[in-house]
Amino acid sequence: MNEIIKFLKKRRSVTAKKMLPGEVTDMDLNDILECALRVPDHGALSPWKLVVIQNDIRKTIGEEILVPEFKNKNSDYTDEQIIFEKNRFMRADKIIAVIYSPVESVKIPSWEMMLSTGAVCQNIVISAQSMNYAVQWVTEWYSYNNVMLEYLGGDINKDKIAGFIYIGKKTDQPLERIRPKFDKKIKFLD
Ligand SMILES: Cc1cc2nc3c(=O)[nH]c(=O)nc-3n(C[C@H](O)[C@H](O)[C@H](O)COP(=O)(O)O)c2cc1C
Repeated sequence: MNEIIKFLKKRRSVTAKKMLPGEVTDMDLNDILECALRVPDHGALSPWKLVVIQNDIRKTIGEEILVPEFKNKNSDYTDEQIIFEKNRFMRADKIIAVIYSPVESVKIPSWEMMLSTGAVCQNIVISAQSMNYAVQWVTEWYSYNNVMLEYLGGDINKDKIAGFIYIGKKTDQPLERIRPKFDKKIKFLD
């Protein structure tokens, strides 16, 4: 079995809750971003945008977007929850926000542009995992928040946040999770 297949059969996400920020090197980040852009994309429309969230802006987003928007959404909250929101993006060294940004096309349906955006996310996940970082693709509540979408440069009339990919450091090796049964999900037509 070749090394890529071996890796893909074993790769595993680490929850943002369990990771430490650690440090993602510039060289690794650059490689991850190059892999992100190299995805199947019908018509070469590049219907996505990427935003790398790092350094002090992680805390600033917590204070200026996450906390006020969390308060807007929830009438009842505790001090712990507010502290958590303020520090939410501090869980990882880098967070890559992937925005689905469909373009006008008579030939390519927006569904396919959405699929290509998912491929961007997955390429980030697998390339970063291949470097042994702790990685998780999450949407959580703030992917569905228009203030966040606008802050990241998205157009609230057409764009959507496909997710935030947290990249940090592993504390332990993650445990395996239940995987779909091969026979239940795959059918062969001969
Ligand atoms: C679009 C999308 C959004 C997700 N959002 C969350 C989330 O908000 N919270 C969460 O715990 N897992 C979320 N997940 C699941 C994790 O990213 C991941 O799939 C899961 O932890 C198992 O990953 P693995 O197969 O890479 O080990 C999401 C997955 C996808 C594809």
